[in-house]
Amino acid sequence: MSMTRREFLKRSAVAAAAASFSTLIARANQQEKVKVGVIGTGAQGQNLLRQLMSMPSAEVVAVCDIYAPNRIRAVELTQFRAQGYSDYRALLERKDIEAVVIASPLHLHAPMTLDALQAGKHVFCEKAIAYSIDESRQMAQAAQRTGKLLQIGHQRHYNDTYNQAYWLIKEGAIGKITHVRVLWHRNNSWRRPVPDPKFERLLNWRLYKDYSHGLLTELASHQLDVVNWFLGALPISVMGYGGIDYWKDGREVYDNVELIFNYPGGVRVMYSSITTNAYDGYGEWFFGDKGTMALTNETSGLLYRERNAEKLEWEDDANTVQVDGRRAVVIEPTPTRRAPQRGEQLAQQGQRNAYYAELEHFLQCVRTGEQPKCTAADALPALTCILGAKTAIETGALYEFKPEDFRLG
Ligand SMILES: NC(=O)c1ccc[n+]([C@@H]2O[C@H](COP(=O)([O-])OP(=O)(O)OC[C@H]3O[C@@H](n4cnc5c(N)ncnc54)[C@H](O)[C@@H]3O)[C@@H](O)[C@H]2O)c1
Repeated sequence: MSMTRREFLKRSAVAAAAASFSTLIARANQQEKVKVGVIGTGAQGQNLLRQLMSMPSAEVVAVCDIYAPNRIRAVELTQFRAQGYSDYRALLERKDIEAVVIASPLHLHAPMTLDALQAGKHVFCEKAIAYSIDESRQMAQAAQRTGKLLQIGHQRHYNDTYNQAYWLIKEGAIGKITHVRVLWHRNNSWRRPVPDPKFERLLNWRLYKDYSHGLLTELASHQLDVVNWFLGALPISVMGYGGIDYWKDGREVYDNVELIFNYPGGVRVMYSSITTNAYDGYGEWFFGDKGTMALTNETSGLLYRERNAEKLEWEDDANTVQVDGRRAVVIEPTPTRRAPQRGEQLAQQGQRNAYYAELEHFLQCVRTGEQPKCTAADALPALTCILGAKTAIETGALYEFKPEDFRLG
């Protein structure tokens, strides 16, 4: 580990400078805002819409949702500047719209993306990329054929803490990684109240297998994407359990999954997602022979050095906290000297909102023609991991991945 304090702070400062540089670019482009349509304005669509509304480089001119309350709410969020549509194809017919943001249920990612690309729009589509590998490939091919951009919404790629953690791991801060623990634990049914039974599948699509792969696509996709990215590797095989063991409410997707992925070099990744206990929250823990990188709740990054590992050169200059009697270096996107209280979110210290950052990047790519950071090729491996894990659970047998399934073609 040969990073000096100066380099450590410089790297942090670069991240901060990049943030303000992109703001400058956005300002420079203010005269030529990208006209955007948002398709699927439920929970995440509204979140993304709020980001777009606060962005100098975007002008949301249309929103679409088949569920009237969500469509009306979206129009309200644009201060009635956007036109509301119930058919996304009508939105796509508008010539003035350059780009669309798709935040629909998983099974609609592919058909909507294909139609949007065919209509000449650049596409930002939420994660997971699609319901199947074949659909993902069709999406990528359509982007290539039409010459339009396709970015997938794995926002951790735009998260300053994750980027700083990735770089430190690459520099050897935790040594050789041998194990990764990943979990997403909640204590709720995931079920939404529906005003009328006829809306059950529309509002609770996550619980039905025709529309979603459940916890695997909705939660694990984010985290397996991070594991593949940080390890710079893809799994060889996976085994696992899953079941509908607690929430016997008519759902068709597992309410708990436990997986073990086997990566090259004997690296094992343990994954767990449950819906009956929220004690551990969610996060990824990378265990190396010199230390542990703990990333939790998308906001907190802590590095714990192993007792027998040499002190990091820059450690005395970094902010540290005591957690359960152990000293941890705070992974910060900005070179603040203030150590946060335990539990305080790094976001409060000026970390950029990753949803804002990913959309700002998307619009910048629309303007410059550069390829986005998280393309279909980047997003496919997480889906492949998920589908392999699902097969392992269903068959009760070890699933061996086919290397070609991680590639678009
Ligand atoms: N990146 C993240 O952190 C994050 C967080 C939450 C959700 N998501 C993703 O965002 C997507 C949406 O999730 P959500 O939680 O917002 O779901 P949601 O159910 O709240 O919203 C989906 C919306 O799509 C609408 N819709 C369904 N079919 C439609 C159609 N044919 N035409 C137009 N609109 C249609 C629904 O009426 C609903 O309003 C999913 O892919 C999910 O995985 C990502």
